Amino acid sequence: MTQFLAFSTIHGLEKECLGEVKELLHEYLKKEKIELDFLKAVSDKEYLSTRRGYVVLECPSQYLNMSLFGALTKLKSVQRIIYLVGEFVKLPMDDTMLSYLQTEITSNKETNKKWQQGHDYWKSMCLATSLNYLENDSVDHRFKSSYIRYIEANKGTDESKTDKQSIPIRELNVDEPTYRITCDRIGSHVQKTDILEPQLAHVIHTQFPTWQVKLSYPDIHIYFDLFHEQCLFGIILRDGMHRRNRRNLQHHFQTALNPCLCYLLARIADIKPHMYVCDPMCGIGSILIESFLSYPHATYIGTDWKFKPVQEAICNTKYCNIPLLNTSDLKEDNINDEQKYGICFTTVDVTTIYPPQCNSIYSKLKNKIDVVITDPPFGHKHGTYQNNREHLYPKMIKSLMSLIKPVTGKLLMVLNKATMERKLVKELLQQMYGDEGCKYETKEVDIGGFNALLFIIQKLKVEEDTIEKDTHAPKKKEKKEKKKTGKKSTGNTSHASNKIIAITLLVLVLGLVAKLLLNSFW
Ligand SMILES: C[S@@+](CC[C@H](N)C(=O)[O-])C[C@H]1O[C@@H](n2cnc3c(N)ncnc32)[C@H](O)[C@@H]1O
Repeated sequence: MTQFLAFSTIHGLEKECLGEVKELLHEYLKKEKIELDFLKAVSDKEYLSTRRGYVVLECPSQYLNMSLFGALTKLKSVQRIIYLVGEFVKLPMDDTMLSYLQTEITSNKETNKKWQQGHDYWKSMCLATSLNYLENDSVDHRFKSSYIRYIEANKGTDESKTDKQSIPIRELNVDEPTYRITCDRIGSHVQKTDILEPQLAHVIHTQFPTWQVKLSYPDIHIYFDLFHEQCLFGIILRDGMHRRNRRNLQHHFQTALNPCLCYLLARIADIKPHMYVCDPMCGIGSILIESFLSYPHATYIGTDWKFKPVQEAICNTKYCNIPLLNTSDLKEDNINDEQKYGICFTTVDVTTIYPPQCNSIYSKLKNKIDVVITDPPFGHKHGTYQNNREHLYPKMIKSLMSLIKPVTGKLLMVLNKATMERKLVKELLQQMYGDEGCKYETKEVDIGGFNALLFIIQKLKVEEDTIEKDTHAPKKKEKKEKKKTGKKSTGNTSHASNKIIAITLLVLVLGLVAKLLLNSFW
């Protein structure tokens, strides 16, 4: 029998997530020496497809086991893994919605069987992840599932007692777990989420009368994703995979980017060994840390204008055992020989990078960076949209563009999806490089419910320095005029001679008037 697993990812980057799932499965199946037919099917993407915000794997049930689950938890672009009980695309949005959902959830034999199987797979996943966790003792106790806490308690570890924020351990009965319904909903459905969730819980209760509803820290999450008329539902096998930054990092900040998105950005940038990668608005360093963890044979440079995020980024980097580099490791002399791999953090205001005379870490890195990945402030949580558009973005874009290598270099930048931002970037690039001096594409991405636009920009030529351009501008104009008229330009001289003529005329007229007056007087 075929089972379906849904991997939830960043909406807009499903294709990139599919790439990672495919690679991981390919490696896993090869290592486990699993039947070649399945391996081939996975390679041909026959068993993989995408939905809005998901990659779905169609998997013969004989392969769905603890070992595969263990491998799947290593996916970096996936936020949660759901065992799909069902999905449909024609959900009525009127009063009949709930009764329609009820029938779809439990009416037929096959769906009923799937709930049961989902429960079994959840048990396997619990075991697989608990084994993963137990290997890694540094994991914060708060992020372990109740099942893992239960195993640890029985193993006699006293971690739960020492952790201040520990959650009380209770005995977990995997056959009669506690559960809650979580419903994510977009669209104008008649029934709102707060009405839907208890109603759906009631439906599940009829299916599993021994399961108890528990809203905080339940064992099982039953998940419904309603997007207008589309619906997908099942049992969450593994949740919070995108919260790894809370485990990986010591310092966290509200504007820190989702680690799944950070990983996907690095993947899109196609970071290769020996490359130079930088984030000039690095915050606590999430993009560079995630990138290094996946592509360690490169040199990363992170800067921010504030000292505090830079300090925190340094702490986070140390916490992840990533080598910290000094600014001297990046000198131009070093850029071609004896490259050091790691991350270098320092403070720089991004708007000061572009002027040619800039004397920051970037002065010798102009046109030498392979990849710039950055997540500038949107003006949503900090600053304002207008202020960013008028004062920050124009200088920032010039600066970022001045860093990347012509032709091969890439700038990946996540901005607010608003039309004005799109227009601003387009106009600036046109102004700097003309019609054919640069190329770019955009992808719409969802960042925690916020619509953003990912720009992937490449420049095909080096920009001229504005300062030189300005000082040469009047001369160029003069030359143009000369060409047009074919005469020597008179400039200021002609202006002066005009003045002399006017004064002479005035003196003559005054003399004449005086003579006339004298004649008439005598
Ligand atoms: C959206 S946050 C980046 C978050 C980062 N990607 C992370 O995951 O931590 C934007 C960052 O840009 C920095 N920033 C704002 N204006 C800047 C400027 N003119 N120069 C350099 N950094 C700036 C802010 O201090 C903030 O840390």
